[in-house]
Amino acid sequence: MANGEDWQRVIALNEVPNGGLRCLERGAVRLLICRVHDEAYAVINRCPHLGLDLDQAAMYEHELVCPHHNACFDIRSGKPTSGPSVFPLGGYPCRVLDGEVEVDFANPDSTMDRHMRAVNAAKR
Ligand code: FES
Repeated sequence: MANGEDWQRVIALNEVPNGGLRCLERGAVRLLICRVHDEAYAVINRCPHLGLDLDQAAMYEHELVCPHHNACFDIRSGKPTSGPSVFPLGGYPCRVLDGEVEVDFANPDSTMDRHMRAVNAAKR
């Protein structure tokens, strides 16, 4: 660990279907690893609309669609792009090194953290 980071290998990139996702658990953390070509994104496996799982979510390039009520999120930012969720999708920093997907577990970007930052920024 360096500079407050905790990068951990979670899966090989070629174990994630291109244009699809894999569900993973690390301790209490439930993640979706989403792949778009050679890029990977780690998002929290909980829809911020009603807190339901995203195991059966669909992906269209960088858009993730919740199977329950069709909330759509940009997996690069977590921002909702359409549908019923007003809150962003949480996630973690994610990178691909030598074909391995790594996640920085020291820096979660949870839904509420993102939401509160947005609220606080809006107040300034
Ligand atoms: S729980 Fe995901 S859109 Fe409602």
